[in-house]
Amino acid sequence: MDKIVISGGKKLKGRVSISGAKNAAVAILPAAVLSDNVCRIENIPNIKDITLMCRILSDMGAKIKLINKNTIEIDSRAMSFSVAPSELMRSMRASSYLLGVLLSKFSEANVYLPGGCDFGLRPIDQHLKGFEALGAKYSLANGIVTVKCDRLVGTHIYLDVVSVGATINIMLAAVKAEGLTIIENAAKEPHIVDLANFLNCMGADIFGAGTDVIKIRGVERLRGVTYSIIPDQIEAGTYMVAAAATGGDILLENVIPRHLESITAKLLEMGVNFEEFNDSLRVFCNQRLKKCNVKTMPHPGFPTDMQPQITALLSTADGTSIVNESVWDNRFRYVDELHRMGAKISVDGRVAVVEGVNSLKGALVKATDLRAGAALIIAGLSAEGTTTIEEIQHIERGYENIVGKLQTLGADVKIVSSEPFSTGVSGL
Ligand code: EPU
Repeated sequence: MDKIVISGGKKLKGRVSISGAKNAAVAILPAAVLSDNVCRIENIPNIKDITLMCRILSDMGAKIKLINKNTIEIDSRAMSFSVAPSELMRSMRASSYLLGVLLSKFSEANVYLPGGCDFGLRPIDQHLKGFEALGAKYSLANGIVTVKCDRLVGTHIYLDVVSVGATINIMLAAVKAEGLTIIENAAKEPHIVDLANFLNCMGADIFGAGTDVIKIRGVERLRGVTYSIIPDQIEAGTYMVAAAATGGDILLENVIPRHLESITAKLLEMGVNFEEFNDSLRVFCNQRLKKCNVKTMPHPGFPTDMQPQITALLSTADGTSIVNESVWDNRFRYVDELHRMGAKISVDGRVAVVEGVNSLKGALVKATDLRAGAALIIAGLSAEGTTTIEEIQHIERGYENIVGKLQTLGADVKIVSSEPFSTGVSGL
């Protein structure tokens, strides 16, 4: 029942340290289970999706030790195959990675069809196509996917769509398969490279991650390692947009500027200024921003996970912008919430036409998913008056201490706990 309450209009100023990448961490944690020893993972974001993944792994017998809030040790030596999958798997998309991991480890996996943010169909046909090509058989009953194999044998797999999840899942299944697996039309996101680096540190033989052809030569065993996760591209992008929306001046610390280039390019086009250092980036602007057109694409294109945030920014830019969502069918549900704040946006299918208004006005809104929630925070920071955001559990899934970090940057923002609704009549 918690809400985020923002009094808009404060320029963000100061430094913010970016946490480890959510979408790398939710792949690397299950991947650690493939090791025959203890893995220590550092720079893990302290977010709800990670807590959930740790609980799922621990329900399956992995020993998870919290060293500090961003470092975890995983010992999967006592893990055993369980026919009954954890119900928790339903609530996150990344639980699909357990298919690849358990198939590799136990030659069998039972996983609930994964959940996660709702933006239209989220099929896993490409994951299953990959497992089948490696020699597994799959079936689906009562919302549970079962995948089984006698052995996994390397092969050539051509993905019909560029899919982050399928690329990761096939890498996980193939890493200990017999012989060579080649994934063509693979996704190239920074977290794919991070997972490949992690597996290679454990002794895997993966070549080409970050390009659209990934070659995986199966190895017999993977050892325990200590590994630090890359900074979160999308968290960094969200603070970049928040700084731009408030006419602020902030320094993002612990970032890889190269991972941010598609976001930086669009913000530069709008009139935002940058100063780049080795592992930090200054973002500043003090003028009304200009319109620009955005089309989301797989990496290295503009990330779909930044689409709601940049749409919120464009809603007060000078001129009319077109935002084209090419990855997901239905990722504009949050636009209704921005309308409550005075935005002028019309959506037709995967295209939004954003007519910049002079300013947004605070309102009561609700986060419809993780990045939608981030967009509403950005809108609230720049708006006149008070914005109250409900359903913030979506935001807590993916942003570490977002309210605390924004407070450090000078925002007037807080979390307010509200009492559950009561009719006032006892017995009801
Ligand atoms: N697709 C298929 N078949 C498949 C898999 C995907 O048709 O078997 C389609 C999807 O319907 C979609 C497109 O391919 O149209 C891309 O989907 P992808 O598989 O790349 O997405 P994902 O792996 O489910 C990850 C991120 C998402 C991010 C997308 C795209 C994780 C845990 N999630 O999802 O992140 O939007 O890649 O970059 O890594 C977020 O962090 O807010 C988030 C939603």
